[in-house]
Amino acid sequence: MTAKIVVVGSFNADLVSYMERMPRPGETVHGERFATGAGGKGSNQAVAAARLGADVTFIGRVGNDVFANLAYEIWDAEGVKREFVTRDDEVATGVAPILVDSSGENMIVVVLGANLRLRESDIDAARAQIAAADMLVVQREINLEIVPYALRTAKEFGVKTILNPAPADGASRESIQLADYLTPNEIELETLNGGEYDDVVSAARALLTRDDQTAVVTLGAQGARIVRPGESHLVPPFAVDVVDTTGAGDTFNAALAVGLSESKALGDAVRFANAAAALCVTKPGAADSAPYRADVDNLYRSAT
Ligand code: RIB
Repeated sequence: MTAKIVVVGSFNADLVSYMERMPRPGETVHGERFATGAGGKGSNQAVAAARLGADVTFIGRVGNDVFANLAYEIWDAEGVKREFVTRDDEVATGVAPILVDSSGENMIVVVLGANLRLRESDIDAARAQIAAADMLVVQREINLEIVPYALRTAKEFGVKTILNPAPADGASRESIQLADYLTPNEIELETLNGGEYDDVVSAARALLTRDDQTAVVTLGAQGARIVRPGESHLVPPFAVDVVDTTGAGDTFNAALAVGLSESKALGDAVRFANAAAALCVTKPGAADSAPYRADVDNLYRSAT
């Protein structure tokens, strides 16, 4: 069965500098390498889901500039459907300067440009695709009024939703209540809990307002924790050599969407997502490092 996924989200051109260690405020350090690549959480998720075999429609906005070409190249190469992407003449494509240190950790600034001009009409234009989807995935690098609008549209058709609350600053209660699956990392969980929390389970549970809602907290090298009302368990990670963690969360969300859409049990879908994210961090780049299905299946079927 082919999973049908609609991703509403961002595209950014990633401007990535690799260095031994990050600079401190006011300090200059030497970089070792620079690369430009396709990024943006939404587009990364769309590309990763397509590489996992899903039928993917992406809804977003880019500028009419050279950075947008990076988007069209990767979408067309990976078969991401892009008829609901608008090329906006008035603003620049989103860009993301990224620093990656020798441990593979990253720091990212997003300048969202065209992503902030996504409109309700862009969602309305794709209502038929949303109605036919198994899962709608949305993050928070777009015009934030569109996040609940997209979630409500999916709900209208009984389509399940994943809200990846990234970045988490100012996330609305409404969006959190609307989503079926919430996938914060630890920093986002802290932000959603007002800046601090005692433990992951109670912090994740504090976000859930419905019995049928699920939080899956990504914990990096510790794996991922599933939290539902009355239930919590850790899904262990796959051990790999980390090169660059950029895009790992996006690949995780894509694989979770694909796994759930293919009717995997939740724990299996999270294990599948852990396998995909593990492979992603072994390569540099964001969308470029999303793994293909056969490699994810091999790791997923191996012993942890
Ligand atoms: O999650 C990684 C992504 O965050 C990067 O590709 C960057 O564009 C930012 O959106």
